[in-house]
Amino acid sequence: MELSNIPKHVGIIMDGNGRWAKKRGQPRSFGHYMGGRNIFTIAKEAQNLGIETLTLYAFSTENWKRPQDEVDYLMQTPVDFYHKNKDKFEKVDYKISFIGRRDRIPTNLLEVMLDMESKTKDYQGFELVVALDYGGYDEIIRAVNQSTLPVDQSEIEKHLMLNKPVDLLIRTSGEMRLSNFLLWQASYAELYFTKIHWPSFNGKQLIKALKNYQKRNRRYGGLK
Ligand code: IPE
Ligand code: IPE
Ligand code: MG
Repeated sequence: MELSNIPKHVGIIMDGNGRWAKKRGQPRSFGHYMGGRNIFTIAKEAQNLGIETLTLYAFSTENWKRPQDEVDYLMQTPVDFYHKNKDKFEKVDYKISFIGRRDRIPTNLLEVMLDMESKTKDYQGFELVVALDYGGYDEIIRAVNQSTLPVDQSEIEKHLMLNKPVDLLIRTSGEMRLSNFLLWQASYAELYFTKIHWPSFNGKQLIKALKNYQKRNRRYGGLK
């Protein structure tokens, strides 16, 4: 693979945990568990490949509509996972940060998020961004409300939760929509869709997506 044309910022809509589990005769929660574990595998791959920022969509502002037991599971699992894998987290050598609303996250999860952020804040280079209770509309509305009027593009961008354009946007599991993910940042992103469900998405698939990206001709409205 060409190493000079690696996308700086890759976003992934981690979809298909439920379908992955169903295919295996397992409850949806098992899919979420395995999908959660996969975050750290893919983050490491992305770091090794020279990607600068990897933003993963973990929970949308719309996902609260799901059955309460599923929402509870999604909020509790990262907490349990963090406490059971303290040794693995100690070895994380990149920055982890979260984007999204923080006012609706259960306290025990928020504590874990703040812990991860503070422990990894000084790492330079690769950054893993997790979008949790994140919605593109919510982010833009907040940014506009914090802006000085009249707004222009850079004023809004100053107030976004993440001010980095997405180069490559991947969605797993076959759906071809944005589902309110990084609406502003993805305006010129190259889109890549795969039928693979998120828990099965591995380093090989990430490389395949990058190779596909490298064949694209990014014109930004101009001629090239
Ligand atoms: C993605 O998997 C994880 C979250 C949205 C939290 P899904 O839970 O959407 O799985 P499917 O799409 O129902 O298979
Ligand atoms: C998008 O997946 C949100 C995340 C992956 C966190 P959904 O499964 O919620 O999206 P829709 O409902 O199919 O659009
Ligand atoms: Mg889904």
